Amino acid sequence: MTGDLAQRQPIILDCDPGHDDALAILLAAAAPSLELLAITTVAGNQTLEKTTLNARRICTVAGIHGVPIAAGADRPLAHEVRVAAEIHGESGLDGPAFGEPQVPLDARQAADLISELSRSVDGLVLVATGPLTNVATVLARDPGLAGRLRRLVLMGGAIGIGNTTPAAEFNIATDAEAARAVFESGLPITMVPLEATHHALATPEVLARIAAIGTPLAAMTVDLLAFFATTYRNVFGFDSPPVHDPCAVAWVIDETQAEFSYGRTVCDVYGVTGRPPNAEVATAVAAERFWDLMIDALASYAGEPSDPPYAAQELG
Ligand code: RIB
Ligand code: CA
Repeated sequence: MTGDLAQRQPIILDCDPGHDDALAILLAAAAPSLELLAITTVAGNQTLEKTTLNARRICTVAGIHGVPIAAGADRPLAHEVRVAAEIHGESGLDGPAFGEPQVPLDARQAADLISELSRSVDGLVLVATGPLTNVATVLARDPGLAGRLRRLVLMGGAIGIGNTTPAAEFNIATDAEAARAVFESGLPITMVPLEATHHALATPEVLARIAAIGTPLAAMTVDLLAFFATTYRNVFGFDSPPVHDPCAVAWVIDETQAEFSYGRTVCDVYGVTGRPPNAEVATAVAAERFWDLMIDALASYAGEPSDPPYAAQELG
């Protein structure tokens, strides 16, 4: 899919694939209004080794070539990583059976690649859908980044209840030190919290629309979401899983388009702290519009039902 290159919004996607990160990659690479310049990976949903392998796997099945994939931080700034195998499985992308990735790993460090691109590309938007460790790392090494990026759009945080502790959402809770550094950096930030992403549910009707696309990529996506649905039902009691991360990408498209408080994002909705606002906060997702964007993106990938490299599995 091609949009007018001059008009397309250049983005970098920093992620921890992760089922919903996989959809964020697929949406970002296909959206005609975006130009995905790079994918950087971070430890979060699984170890760095696994999240990086998963990014390569998704790009292989989708035929996304020419987008450098660079690995970043293998642990949060101040403590060990705690992965989310109970949600994303041991591989970080359980459900589909993947072959060997054909898309290579770029030799550059994530932070170096982000810094390098921010110097050569005007109006760059950084989309972060994992812990903010890479973003904090590049800001510490290159503080000028805050003035060069157009905006950071992050999936993370919560206005109210968290999903990792009662007070904290996973991406922020995994590395609250990094999140503090990022929110205090002066970067223009849009935060897409759980209150927004919980509107983007992969319902059985959505899975049927995706399956009807009929390509190997669509079949892989259905297998991903079927697994994600089982873990979200078992852990959180959701009937259908919320696909958090592509909501951050969709926002860009539509904008082109303590002991118990560690990791809490405090949204001073009424300005009672007297502190200047440091982020815009999305509070909802237009679910029908979101799924139209996501399914159009999935349908845009070439491929016939007979094409390798992905063979659909019998859904249990
Ligand atoms: O809390 C949801 C977020 O944590 C998503 O980005 C998901 O992929 C996990 O990283
Ligand atoms: Ca993620």
